[in-house]
Amino acid sequence: MSNLHPQLLKRLHAAVGDAGLVIDSEGKAPYETDWLKKFTGSSSIVVRPANTAETAAVMCICHETHTPVVTQGGNTGMSGGATPDGSGAQVVLSTVRMNAIRAVDPLNNTLTCEAGVLLAHIQAAAQEVDRFFPLSLGSEGSCTIGGNLATNAGGIAVLRYGNTRELALGLEVVLPDGRVWHGLRALRKDNTGYDLRDLFIGSEGTLGVITAAVLKLSPRPVARATAWVGARDIEALVQLLAQLRADCGERLVAFEMMSAPSLALILAHVADVRAPLGEEHAFHALIELADTQGEGLASLLEGSLEKALESGSVQDVAVSASGAQTQAFWKIREGISQAQMRAGKAIKHDIALPISAIAGFAHRAEAALRAADPDVRIINFGHLGDGNLHYNVLLPLDSAPEVLAAATARFNRIVHDMVAEADGSISAEHGVGQLRRDELRHYKSEVEFDLMMRIKQSLDPNQIMNPGKLI
Ligand code: FAD
Ligand code: MLT
Ligand code: ZN
Repeated sequence: MSNLHPQLLKRLHAAVGDAGLVIDSEGKAPYETDWLKKFTGSSSIVVRPANTAETAAVMCICHETHTPVVTQGGNTGMSGGATPDGSGAQVVLSTVRMNAIRAVDPLNNTLTCEAGVLLAHIQAAAQEVDRFFPLSLGSEGSCTIGGNLATNAGGIAVLRYGNTRELALGLEVVLPDGRVWHGLRALRKDNTGYDLRDLFIGSEGTLGVITAAVLKLSPRPVARATAWVGARDIEALVQLLAQLRADCGERLVAFEMMSAPSLALILAHVADVRAPLGEEHAFHALIELADTQGEGLASLLEGSLEKALESGSVQDVAVSASGAQTQAFWKIREGISQAQMRAGKAIKHDIALPISAIAGFAHRAEAALRAADPDVRIINFGHLGDGNLHYNVLLPLDSAPEVLAAATARFNRIVHDMVAEADGSISAEHGVGQLRRDELRHYKSEVEFDLMMRIKQSLDPNQIMNPGKLI
């Protein structure tokens, strides 16, 4: 049963109907725990509007009654941003029923869709008109474009196509007071004042509910070439990245990196995977080129990798010989999230650094973590091509909550201080949510934080949008 005031329940029912409300505990449970099973809360009710008008009606009611709202898409977020707190007072607003693709325009290279459309469905709709939507994440079968926009998600093709911000042209947003901002413009140029679109992208449900978006489509690549590389150290991979960029230009789409302990974890916890080059290398990279022209891609990749082998910057290389082998390579990379869940309690760091600073950071961070705890298990992997590392520390599965909390505080300070010293970011692609809220406060300058607070105050004066997250 809902603990909502009967009058409020009646008004929400009038706004969204029977199909739009989830009231019983069993039905609400999946909306109250995150994918990592790290955060659990309790909601007063789950509201699932079917369209923008219903979302606006819900927000009007919540604004008027000062009812806190947590917007949720696919609930695959890694920072607890979509999980309600434990008060039982927050409404979860799920976008799952807003799942229509409104228009596809191959001449303008745009696709307009609602916020609850799954990323994989957008990719498929683009392909149907011989276009390509390049955002690609391990969670693409369950995350929504609204969640991708709200977290400014990254993934495996940022190196070539940019993150979600760079893939959006226009937005439609229901504001905290229920008004609708109609910003669904399909334009590459629009300098008519402050950029409201970019304000909502990455705002993690704290400024409004994104209900629809116009997305940029790209020409569809018809050829891809993929390789698995083994290297002695991370410096070698940074050198290889620079060489591949010079040799292959825009064709270089993905450059993903993992350390030997990360690979070992995947091999131990994910079924049907095999290390393409064995396990003796200290670092591994998964590299992909793609092109809209069919010819010569594999030889371009092979030529560049041969040079790297000759110069000794990499130790071994396996170029994929078939679609099945390419899939097998990616299965290894995409197994890392599950492997960490199964192997222990991960203290996750989602950091960004200038690529030139990555190797120095990795050495200093490892030395400092080992000085703090000689047995520390560092799981270092990520999107090297974007300067984004998931520099995680893994604790045993049976770690008591207080042990986990103390280790998190200790290791966060070591890693994040080093990131700050290098002018990096402590939140590259997963969002701040509740996981890094206090860390953000610690590292943001007073001026930056003050500006963020003023924006929040002016858009959401009643402080109802995702309280306790981000700021
Ligand atoms: P949710 O988890 O539901 O919500 C995330 C945040 O967005 C919350 O703060 C929520 O309040 C807000 N929100 C959701 N929808 C809206 C909306 N319509 N309007 C306003 N606010 C909204 N992320 C990456 O960046 N790169 C990766 O490579 C990557 N790989 C992943 C692999 C796996 C296996 C998993 C499980 C997750 C991965 N993620 C990755 C994290 C996650 O998938 C992304 O953060 C994704 O963008 C979240 O989308 P979602 O629909 O699940 O959002
Ligand atoms: C990834 O790069 O695989 C994702 O961001 C997910 C994760 O960090 O587990
Ligand atoms: Zn990632």
